Amino acid sequence: MSALTTVVLAAGEGTRMRSRLPKALHRIGGRPLIAYPVRLARQLGGRLVLVVGRGSEEVRQAVGEGPSVHFIEQKERLGTGHALQQARSACGNGSGTVLVLPADTPLLSALTLERLVERHRGSGAAATLLTAVLDAPEGYGRIVRDAGRVRAIVEDRDASPEQKQIREVATSVYAFDARRLWPALDQVRADNDQGEYYLTDVIAILGRQGQPIEAVMAEDPAECLGINDRKQLARVAALLRARALERLMFEGVTVLDPATTYVDDTVTVGADSVLAPGVVLEGATAIGAECTIGLGCHVSDSRLGDRVTLKPYCVLSQAIVEDEATLGPFCHLRPLSHVGARAKVGNFVELKKSRIGRGSKVPHLSYVGDATVAEDVNIGAGTITCNYDGVKKHETRIGRGAFIGTNTSLVAPITIGEGAYVGAGSTVTEDVPPGALALGRAPQVTKEGWVARRKQQQQAGDD
Ligand code: UD1
Ligand code: CA
Repeated sequence: MSALTTVVLAAGEGTRMRSRLPKALHRIGGRPLIAYPVRLARQLGGRLVLVVGRGSEEVRQAVGEGPSVHFIEQKERLGTGHALQQARSACGNGSGTVLVLPADTPLLSALTLERLVERHRGSGAAATLLTAVLDAPEGYGRIVRDAGRVRAIVEDRDASPEQKQIREVATSVYAFDARRLWPALDQVRADNDQGEYYLTDVIAILGRQGQPIEAVMAEDPAECLGINDRKQLARVAALLRARALERLMFEGVTVLDPATTYVDDTVTVGADSVLAPGVVLEGATAIGAECTIGLGCHVSDSRLGDRVTLKPYCVLSQAIVEDEATLGPFCHLRPLSHVGARAKVGNFVELKKSRIGRGSKVPHLSYVGDATVAEDVNIGAGTITCNYDGVKKHETRIGRGAFIGTNTSLVAPITIGEGAYVGAGSTVTEDVPPGALALGRAPQVTKEGWVARRKQQQQAGDD
């Protein structure tokens, strides 16, 4: 089988996005656009060449280096044909199959590309195009056929009124025979409405040479939708989102309201978990089986075990929650929070860089930051770790089985020993040994009959 090189064209200006950001870095489904063709190329195997231009450094970083990845800079953006020309030297010895992918078509599937490459190799064509029949073909290059054979691609802006009626469009996905591609590409001229070197013109050039050209029609035309502007970004994002939800449902997850549930396609959820309306799951989030994710929860880059319950409106970021823990409603797990198995983190609790041990409870209204809380600890309502002295952060350690009374301030650095008790309303500034009781509050003063005496004094004064 001939060698495969995939060339991703990702240098374009992306003018129609009207953005400071290069188009290839706009995010969709939890990843930058460029991640999609790169993933496809890796699935197909072989050499990968990325043509980068606008924001090339950032695009390179987003892709990452790899043994078979070659970056080529298209310094002047003179069109898709010019972009592919830049990749020539990186494509190896000039033979084999060159698969061209645009960077702005994230719904493409590996299966479709495999079909395309297979047809290309089997037919011996000079070029095999992926085409799609769209209800709204506006903006796309049209496939001009003659007696069924592909003759040319005509760009929308260069098309005649009759050609504009054609609904079969070019997708910017091509398989080429390298030997026949490069000489034909040299013949492309910039004699069109935009004054650019169009890769699409290679098809007519090969056609005039009498070279065989094949076309594979996408079974699902939605796969071929490109993203040139923000409207198309939103439309494709909605399709991608629907697919991610369909995958979860197929895998045994109940999605109560798919219309309001936003799940990146990077997210995994175990069987028999239930997602309530308004849930957003992002990035590298992995949720176990039989979990309940309540109304309006927003979880990003976090790992949840099995049978975890998030009551409504929890916000989690870079957190780990072990099996059977219960969170919320209204709790906030900031980065590096770790909640142990069967622990409970209740309403209006904020955790930051803290570990809550197995079976421990922080049920209400607390801030726990830079803390290590051992197993079976009870932290009363309104407890605050005072972790910041205005300059540095300090740590709090609470031993197993300790009991922290309500409305306690733990002034870090501080250690509360195993099984120790802290009386309600305390401000604790010194370590508490294991098994001790600490009280850090002013002793109560009670004055019997004080109210009546004051009234008498006031009356005497008024007379
Ligand atoms: C292109 C096709 C059009 C097709 C459509 C499918 C051409 C001339 N037109 O149009 O027939 O229907 O895709 O979505 O090819 N790029 C570069 N360097 C450049 C210009 C573009 O790398 O100088 C890259 C872009 O980053 C993008 C891809 O090539 O990933 C396609 O360019 P784009 O401007 O989006 O082309 P379309 O107008 O969509
Ligand atoms: Ca495009």
